[in-house]
Amino acid sequence: MLRVAVIGSGPSGVYTAQSLIEQEAVPDIEVYVLDRLPCPYGLVRYGVAPDHEKIKSLQNNLRMVLEHPRVHFLGNVEAGAPGLGVEELREIFDAVVFCVGAATDRHLGIPGEELPGSHPATEFVAWYSAHPDAAAVRFTLAARSAVVIGVGNVAVDVVRMLSRGAAELAATDMPQGPLGALADSRVEDVWMVGRRGPSQAKFTTKELRELGSLPDTEVCVRPEELALDPAYRDPGELPAVARRNVAVLRGWAERTAAGPADAGPAARARRRIHLRFFLRPAEVLGDASGVRAVRFERTAPDGRGGVTGTGEFEEIEGQLVLRSVGYRGTPQPGLPFDEATGTVPHLAGRVLRDGAPLPGVYAAGWIKRGPTGVIGTNRPCAKETASSLLADTPMLAERHTAGDPVAALARAGQRPVPWPGWLAIEAAEAAWGHGLGRGTVKLPDWAGLLAAAHANG
Ligand SMILES: Cc1cc2nc3c(=O)[nH]c(=O)nc-3n(C[C@H](O)[C@H](O)[C@H](O)COP(=O)(O)OP(=O)(O)OC[C@H]3O[C@@H](n4cnc5c(N)ncnc54)[C@H](O)[C@@H]3O)c2cc1C
Ligand SMILES: NC(=O)c1ccc[n+]([C@@H]2O[C@H](COP(=O)([O-])OP(=O)(O)OC[C@H]3O[C@@H](n4cnc5c(N)ncnc54)[C@H](OP(=O)(O)O)[C@@H]3O)[C@@H](O)[C@H]2O)c1
Repeated sequence: MLRVAVIGSGPSGVYTAQSLIEQEAVPDIEVYVLDRLPCPYGLVRYGVAPDHEKIKSLQNNLRMVLEHPRVHFLGNVEAGAPGLGVEELREIFDAVVFCVGAATDRHLGIPGEELPGSHPATEFVAWYSAHPDAAAVRFTLAARSAVVIGVGNVAVDVVRMLSRGAAELAATDMPQGPLGALADSRVEDVWMVGRRGPSQAKFTTKELRELGSLPDTEVCVRPEELALDPAYRDPGELPAVARRNVAVLRGWAERTAAGPADAGPAARARRRIHLRFFLRPAEVLGDASGVRAVRFERTAPDGRGGVTGTGEFEEIEGQLVLRSVGYRGTPQPGLPFDEATGTVPHLAGRVLRDGAPLPGVYAAGWIKRGPTGVIGTNRPCAKETASSLLADTPMLAERHTAGDPVAALARAGQRPVPWPGWLAIEAAEAAWGHGLGRGTVKLPDWAGLLAAAHANG
């Protein structure tokens, strides 16, 4: 028998658990999926935008794994807390797989980045997703103009959330606070700004196209800015996604050049999304009372996929700035960490310390690969890690651990929320939403989640 702890119940953790139980070589394997939150599913619950209901429903697939008789979900257990470092976990479990994701944001390193009104997109996402760590965060959306830096899919998500009306979001599980803020939002202009060209943007076409289907919202693209990109003028050699993106942008640019359909202020949409390119952030402008604009330097393609500064600057007005320039992994106590990449060094999922495998310790998902890739990308990644672990079974079995892991976690100062506790949270969220005349509505804070989880003892 092998007893494995998977740390993190996001896609990579659940796919690791699935790979471990769906093999026949070690039939009596038991997998404990631990998460610091009382709720499972990682970014599928706390990242995927609430209006992407189809993707959200992937939670049902993940749930089937967590309900397997040889998989045990234990929420509210934080690896790395005092008394629960890597060594202590290895005393409770035969193997430990870190699937802890990439929880923090990358920094721009420009003046003014930390001014009030300038936030990492991670914070905005955590707020509208009701992550309990963001319970104290408030976005009032009193800004008339918002600047989103970065042109990846997270940037597209936050631009869409800023532009979509509250009425459409009321049917989602978004909590009351953000829904109210969106209903009262004064945002009219949303700028999404890339430092490179349209052919190098990281967003995918389905997500990009969705911006054009938002009610009462006009998408504005400057033809002259697109034309700066050599690959835009001649998209023949581009990868398929970039070619499709360029085609969508071309359509919007032609419409922007022709002006609004029935010109005149009355015909203007309530909101405008401006997609801008070849502008690299130089400074966030403002003072202690808040941001007022972002100063960008105009860039030019360098012919090798990068850009160089031109020395020309432009200010884009904004009272809200969201920096959507990627997520970043954080070091776990006792676990090797590569500061340069924000990942755990590994060989096929085996964690390496000074180049040698750390016995019984593995990694999968964003903490292994870095913060890129969609949910499905984590499946082969997790499979690779599970295969390495299973190949090590003889070595792992030599120091087999015994005793009740739940009791050992309690002795280590944790108060686990088992699967029935999560089901109680789900029931409480359904009941709360029902009382509000909505469907399920997420509980947004630790106290509410833990009270619901422990309501039945
Ligand atoms: C804002 C956003 C939106 C996205 N939208 C989509 C989308 O629409 N479609 C799509 O396909 N992909 C989307 N993605 C990508 C997708 O979410 C990721 O590929 C995926 O979630 C990565 O999985 P993971 O398991 O590595 O990390 P995560 O999903 O982040 O899971 C990590 C888990 O580990 C837990 N954890 C962290 N530290 C500890 C600890 N010390 N102890 C115990 N538990 C811990 C966390 O609580 C979390 O539950 C999105 C990503 C972001 C950031
Ligand atoms: N619907 C979906 O499927 C969905 C939704 C959300 C997220 N995701 C996935 O989750 C992953 C993470 O997404 P993400 O948007 O956070 O990351 P991302 O795709 O890596 O995009 C990051 C963006 O930030 C820019 N950037 C980085 N550093 C910068 C700097 N110093 N100054 C200006 N711009 C900078 C990048 O530009 P450069 O290219 O020039 O570096 C890029 O445009 C991606 O794989 C994404 O596809 C998927």
